[in-house]
Amino acid sequence: MNDKGVGVRRMFDAIAGRYDLMNRLMTMGQDQKWRRFVVERAGEPGDGVTLDLATGTGDIAALSRRVHPHCRVIGGDFSLNMLRQAGRRFSETDIGWQAVDANRLPYADGCFESVTFGYLLRNVENVDGVLREVNRVLKRGGRVVCLDTTPPERNLLYPFIRLYLRLGIPLLGRCIAKDKAAYAYLSGSTMGFYSAEELAAAFGRAGFNAVGYQKFMMGTIAVHWGRK
Ligand SMILES: C[S@@+](CC[C@H](N)C(=O)[O-])C[C@H]1O[C@@H](n2cnc3c(N)ncnc32)[C@H](O)[C@@H]1O
Repeated sequence: MNDKGVGVRRMFDAIAGRYDLMNRLMTMGQDQKWRRFVVERAGEPGDGVTLDLATGTGDIAALSRRVHPHCRVIGGDFSLNMLRQAGRRFSETDIGWQAVDANRLPYADGCFESVTFGYLLRNVENVDGVLREVNRVLKRGGRVVCLDTTPPERNLLYPFIRLYLRLGIPLLGRCIAKDKAAYAYLSGSTMGFYSAEELAAAFGRAGFNAVGYQKFMMGTIAVHWGRK
């Protein structure tokens, strides 16, 4: 695992217990709506297998399970504490929780109908490499759908959004998750991440076609999709 990966994994291991509450507060309860959109865009996997990478506490995997009762769902992540939370929250399901690193997936070529991931790419060192790896494990025609934060556009709302990212979120992180640094990292990595346009180009470079995206929450969240 690379240096960034070691730090990111340690950070998610540390905040796993408060992760869901922080998500609901930071997004004012909007986050589940975007995850439902991700599952819709991923299409119908039939009786095949769908992978939710960087599954964290398992929300996208659980939605896939509910919407597509005939497929097999795997939730993969490299933070064992996040996976433990997922296992606890969705203990009544048959989702397979697996410890995996997105940089080197332990799966054969072309074995998934769809791959989803929420808030993964901002955390990896080599976005192109991870997208190529996702492309490798997808079947031909398979769909990828990615949910992530995206740098806000420089419009009238920009100063307010920037203030919320720079001060509001780290403050929430300090009060609720007792970890200001982790949530300052979230804000910093959002401002420094690819624009939605640049990320769409990265999907194209990794071999996906029919690439598109839609933004949410005043342009600070983007869902990208593509087909192998
Ligand atoms: C912000 S959480 C998102 C969790 C979930 N997808 C959601 O929608 O809430 C990011 C997750 O990505 C995982 N992650 C980051 N880099 C990873 C990598 N290289 N391989 C596997 N998981 C990774 C972290 O452990 C963490 O659980």
